[in-house]
Amino acid sequence: MSELETIANAMVAPGKGILAADESSPTIKKRFDSIGVESTEENRRAYRDLLFTTGDAEKFISGVILFDETLRQNSADGTPFPKLLESRGILPGIKVDKGAKDLAGAPGEKVTEGLDGLRDRVAEYHSLGARFAKWRAVITIGDGIPSDYCLDTNAHALARYAALCLEGGLVPIVEPEVLMDGPHDIERCYSVTERTLTRVFSALNDQRVPLEQIVLKPNMVVSGTECSSQASVSEVAEATLRCFRNTVPAAVPGIVFLSGGQSDELATAHLSEMNRQGGGPWELSFSYGRALQAAPLKAWSGKSENAEAAQKAFLHRARCNGAARTGEYTDAMEASAA
Ligand code: 13P
Repeated sequence: MSELETIANAMVAPGKGILAADESSPTIKKRFDSIGVESTEENRRAYRDLLFTTGDAEKFISGVILFDETLRQNSADGTPFPKLLESRGILPGIKVDKGAKDLAGAPGEKVTEGLDGLRDRVAEYHSLGARFAKWRAVITIGDGIPSDYCLDTNAHALARYAALCLEGGLVPIVEPEVLMDGPHDIERCYSVTERTLTRVFSALNDQRVPLEQIVLKPNMVVSGTECSSQASVSEVAEATLRCFRNTVPAAVPGIVFLSGGQSDELATAHLSEMNRQGGGPWELSFSYGRALQAAPLKAWSGKSENAEAAQKAFLHRARCNGAARTGEYTDAMEASAA
């Protein structure tokens, strides 16, 4: 097995998943605003430090996605974060895109930027200890959208990013996110996700990306947030599995879902049910941001004396999601945190 394949497989190791802690500066400010904490460099460092030093996290967390600033920061004892994670057997990753911007000529649609200079950034990130990368494309469901133009433009960029990462020794997380926002039903989410993934894999194939060396990070197939009839946990699991079995080649080692605004418990329940229903030819795992961090962020609230409680909350969510990897998450396990 190539080194890149070994890393991709380690990212989706049994019982484990990925912590997305790569919030950009504007996004982490939004998260800190919600707990009344100022987004200073030291506060951001201290918060990430408490997550990364949580005891036993390595039992359930295979990798952490970092933002540029965090990759260059140190733990309280002076150890650079990538070194700290590596010493715990956790792979350091890096967000390399420059964010979703308005797509010219396509009102309401986005394209993710960041390809210019990417080869050099990948080389630097690899030298700083990163072993995998992330690029997020954003697809919006609305009247007459997404357009094929938007899907093709984002798929092309995702494939260019993936090819450049592999050339530079980083495993690319390929993240096409179909947003949950809107009144659409689960069938609409299914058809847009299917169109999106079909185009993404076509572009990856065109650009000679070996699928054994990537990890896919998609949305689940769910009802829109304002849809009046919300699909059940088993319906979401069934629709998501059917959609991915129809679009994602078996060569892909793993699918790590984003949480996308689902509640912590629902994101865990959906993943667990998919694995209970039999999963797929790939590992089915998680790469949650909010669904792993909402509880510890609230418990911490910017106070160092709360660090232990925050770590406990983080470990609980990590453990629950670790159990969801084999369909063994239960209400009793959820309740055991108290
Ligand atoms: P959420 O799980 O909060 O959607 O974040 C995952 C992520 O990394 C989005 O790019």
